[in-house]
Amino acid sequence: MTPQSTTSHNKSSNNSASSNRAAGGREKADKYTEFVSAGIGRDLAKRLGLPQPAILRRYSPHAPLVEGPIVVLGHGAGADAVAKVLLDWHQDVRRHATPKEKLGAIVVVLDDLANPGGLSEPMLAIGAALRDLNKNARVVSISREVSVADAPEVAAARNAVDGIVRSLAKELRAGATANGIVLQNGIPAGSPSAMAALRFFLSGRSAFVDGQFLTAASEGSRQAPHWDKPLEGNVAVVTGAARGIGAAIARTLARDGATVVAVDIPAAGDHLAAVANEIHGTSLQLDITDPEAGSRILEHAMSRFGRLDIVVHNAGITRDKLLANMDAARWDSVVAVNLEAQLRMNKALLANESFASNGRIISVSSTSGIAGNRGQSNYAASKAGIIGMVRSTAPLMAASGGTVNAVAPGFIETDMTAKIPFATREVARRLNSLQQGGKPRDVAETIAFFAQPQAAGVTANILRVCGQNLVGQ
Ligand SMILES: NC(=O)c1ccc[n+]([C@@H]2O[C@H](COP(=O)([O-])OP(=O)(O)OC[C@H]3O[C@@H](n4cnc5c(N)ncnc54)[C@H](O)[C@@H]3O)[C@@H](O)[C@H]2O)c1
Repeated sequence: MTPQSTTSHNKSSNNSASSNRAAGGREKADKYTEFVSAGIGRDLAKRLGLPQPAILRRYSPHAPLVEGPIVVLGHGAGADAVAKVLLDWHQDVRRHATPKEKLGAIVVVLDDLANPGGLSEPMLAIGAALRDLNKNARVVSISREVSVADAPEVAAARNAVDGIVRSLAKELRAGATANGIVLQNGIPAGSPSAMAALRFFLSGRSAFVDGQFLTAASEGSRQAPHWDKPLEGNVAVVTGAARGIGAAIARTLARDGATVVAVDIPAAGDHLAAVANEIHGTSLQLDITDPEAGSRILEHAMSRFGRLDIVVHNAGITRDKLLANMDAARWDSVVAVNLEAQLRMNKALLANESFASNGRIISVSSTSGIAGNRGQSNYAASKAGIIGMVRSTAPLMAASGGTVNAVAPGFIETDMTAKIPFATREVARRLNSLQQGGKPRDVAETIAFFAQPQAAGVTANILRVCGQNLVGQ
């Protein structure tokens, strides 16, 4: 059985993809979220103690980075450097909170933690300011990675940040999120890659990322940032771009300035062409399990545009069955499309000098690959396999200045999740700190961040886009 033989395409898929357009601004939330966001619905939910998901602030190139002043906590050179960067970005920066002043964000710089006692003052300062956070505010920590070479009290203090951020993310309400940046040793707090991660976490691009960490592995690019069109001049390939999350990724990369080659199976040709035309890109009908898929992608991009900078491995399939009932066709097709095709394509990409220098590879994994899921042993194997692949490909890419990362989406509102029976779906979409499902564009925004030149020092990350789903970490 070829993988595409059981992949169905219909009109509603494409309509739904279009309705999730990544044009920026306010998007429709699910019906329950709309209902409890105002008037009688809000009062009712409050009285009955029902979940009250907020309408999330999503990225628009013209919207402010955050809504309100940013307090930078911390005393050392790292905190000063971060405050300076925020001032350079024309933000309204404070070095301590003033009671009752509404805040857009708190950034706490903990890059010089020596022991757990050093956490008390900044944490209590955050606690005192929490009531003054605006809706959809952000709390971002900047700390250092834990290594076995650290003295035990240093390692304890550094690792404590993990517990703090994940707990705070569960405490925050009204669309506010808490996330962290981890600096590998020797990387200064104000380095370009850490600041690109900070900008991502502060902005509406990270609306559905909560309780997560990004690691800055190297200082990153000193190239002057162009934050509204960060991908201008770049050529990107997106697989599985005919619909769903892939179509949202293609639109988002194009909005950020990239020229996009949209790839999908021939059976999806019409929808693929529609997406490619809409974003002024090109389409390439290709089954990614074709042994020549990597060279065909390279040939298409090189012959038309003379370059290839970004490859997004999004195409994926599910063939769910309990392992007790699993058959070879289901197992093999899922592993072939979701994992083996990527491994083979990466080999071809890495062998191409032009791509390998500064290239970006971003894979779509899944929270099922982190936490496992009943009836999805084949899918979870493929998505967990991606995580292993990313970690071992990172040093190969780093040798020539490239990066490789993955996103792990949780419950995303797509045609796939729309088919889940109502009650199960309602429970699944509320089981996270933001009490709602994410949008395809939330996954797309995270991928676009990994593709930015400014994120050149951000590699080997597996970032969950799941609203801090209760499964897994
Ligand atoms: N929807 C979710 O909630 C969710 C959650 C976690 C992860 N993901 C992952 O996100 C990715 C996109 O998911 P989606 O919900 O948009 O799925 P989808 O089924 O709507 O779209 C997948 C696309 O990939 C294409 N495709 C499948 N096999 C292919 C092949 N062999 N060659 C080329 N193209 C192929 C399909 O034709 C389709 O257009 C997948 O990797 C999926 O596993 C989705």
